[in-house]
Amino acid sequence: IYKALNTRVSQATLEIDGIADAVLDAFVLSLANAAYRFDAYKSKKTDSKLSSLTLISSQDLSDRLAFILAVHQGQNVARDLANQPANICYPEYMAEQALALAAQYPDLLTVTVLDHAQMTELGMHTFLAVSKGSEREGRLITLEYSGKSDGSQPVVLVGKGVTFDTGGISIKPAANMDEMKFDMAGAASVMGVMRALCESRLPINVVGALACAENMPSGRATRPGDVVTSMSGQTVEILNTDAEGRLVLCDTLTYIQKFNPAAVIDIATLTGACIVALGKVVAGLFSPDDELAAELQSAGQVLHDRVWRMPVWEDYQELLDSPVADMGNIGGPYGGAITAACFLARFTKDYRWAHLDIAGVSHVSGASKGATGRPVPLLMQFLRQRAQG
Ligand code: BES
Ligand code: MN
Ligand code: ZN
Repeated sequence: IYKALNTRVSQATLEIDGIADAVLDAFVLSLANAAYRFDAYKSKKTDSKLSSLTLISSQDLSDRLAFILAVHQGQNVARDLANQPANICYPEYMAEQALALAAQYPDLLTVTVLDHAQMTELGMHTFLAVSKGSEREGRLITLEYSGKSDGSQPVVLVGKGVTFDTGGISIKPAANMDEMKFDMAGAASVMGVMRALCESRLPINVVGALACAENMPSGRATRPGDVVTSMSGQTVEILNTDAEGRLVLCDTLTYIQKFNPAAVIDIATLTGACIVALGKVVAGLFSPDDELAAELQSAGQVLHDRVWRMPVWEDYQELLDSPVADMGNIGGPYGGAITAACFLARFTKDYRWAHLDIAGVSHVSGASKGATGRPVPLLMQFLRQRAQG
């Protein structure tokens, strides 16, 4: 069925009574996603696109399907954003998209955009160390979704939004560097979740924070060995400018403390090492909080957007030791996904926190190169479970 929708069919009617209840949501979401195309830059548009899908059931599934449709729409937002090339999608473009989304849902969303001057004022020098090599200024964008008016603490989602990652002065090899336009997929997924929340009007408070920067080499770029002070006051020796995700994230993770979060989840295409460890099937989940980790793991099962838990133990922390600063920004050749998580852990001690390394699952490579929109389904299911209490 999936294949038929993906290739030829423009309209379909399906009787879904035979589908097991436990997989129904994932099945319907997968059907809806099959018709996705990104042909914005194709002179000849794809002629057959699924335009309608009718589901027949003996049960009233309207509420359930409305939620899945909202997830699907959010996932499309994430895919469209991540698929945009980096000459179109740079930090300011991300800010414009956030403002445009808020204009569509003025009663639900509030957007704030910080520029370099404001980030300098706040002392966010690890963030700025990444974006200062680029002609495109970085932006820290927050979207506040108020689905509940009881003043309850929000869940805060922090997305890595590196709109292009050349590696900076520690420049990457040429092969497949084009795929580094997907290095803002974490931020794109957070934007997708905000859209899905507005569509589904889930009764919960959520803040999305997009850490948007372009990592470029230039005469103004950060050099290996440079030392900077983070917003938290901790100093970092930047040994490899290609380990930039953790640098934009750590200042953002300090900044969002002002929202008094119930829990914080960061979503990032953070390490090639995570792909080595887990392949492209499952995202890495890192958290010192067993309950939060279990919530995310079970949410991932429901919509088949799965995560696998990895350790963030103290034993690894010494790998980040630096002779000149409080820490280095790399942890050596072994356990790279873990040492990256351990770096973030140093900035998240004051609240409940989990980190998702989506480097392997954010996009597919090769002939069908494109963004997946993961983990929008996982995050929406997690928030749905939280909203239901
Ligand atoms: N964006 C990359 C991670 C990545 C690699 C995502 C491949 C998707 C596919 C990240 O910024 C990076 O370059 N990480 C380095 C860290 C290293 C320098 C410690 C890596 O994984 O090689
Ligand atoms: Mn990098
Ligand atoms: Zn990166």
